[in-house]
Amino acid sequence: MLTADVIVFATPVYCYGMCGQMKTMLDRSNPLISAPYRFRDIYLLATAAEEETHTVDGTVTGLQGWIDCFEQAQLAETVFAGGVTSVGDIQGHPALNQAYEMGKHC
Ligand SMILES: Cc1cc2nc3c(=O)[nH]c(=O)nc-3n(C[C@H](O)[C@H](O)[C@H](O)COP(=O)(O)O)c2cc1C
Repeated sequence: MLTADVIVFATPVYCYGMCGQMKTMLDRSNPLISAPYRFRDIYLLATAAEEETHTVDGTVTGLQGWIDCFEQAQLAETVFAGGVTSVGDIQGHPALNQAYEMGKHC
């Protein structure tokens, strides 16, 4: 993460927030704040069972709280895939193309 040009986080939405693994990783990345980190743009990929776009809001807020610690970084884009509960549900989801297009310019 210290030498990354961009960072892309991916998480399922759990209880309207990020998953525990991602939260632990962000918490343990605290030493980066005072380090010469290179990243500027941060991207978020998230899935959830519910389809409403506000389902991801709590996850974005949690990540934004971490990003706010990095003066030179910002959340550039979020790709949200709602309606995903079982293996294979993501196939053909419009969010896949959105993530692909995002990847071309990030
Ligand atoms: C513990 C837990 C909490 C969840 N909480 C939510 C939720 O708050 N809102 C929602 O829409 N989906 C929720 N889901 C559904 C998942 O976000 C969704 O099915 C996701 O695609 C699962 O990814 P995974 O297979 O990596 O766990 C939850 C699933 C689990 C297991």
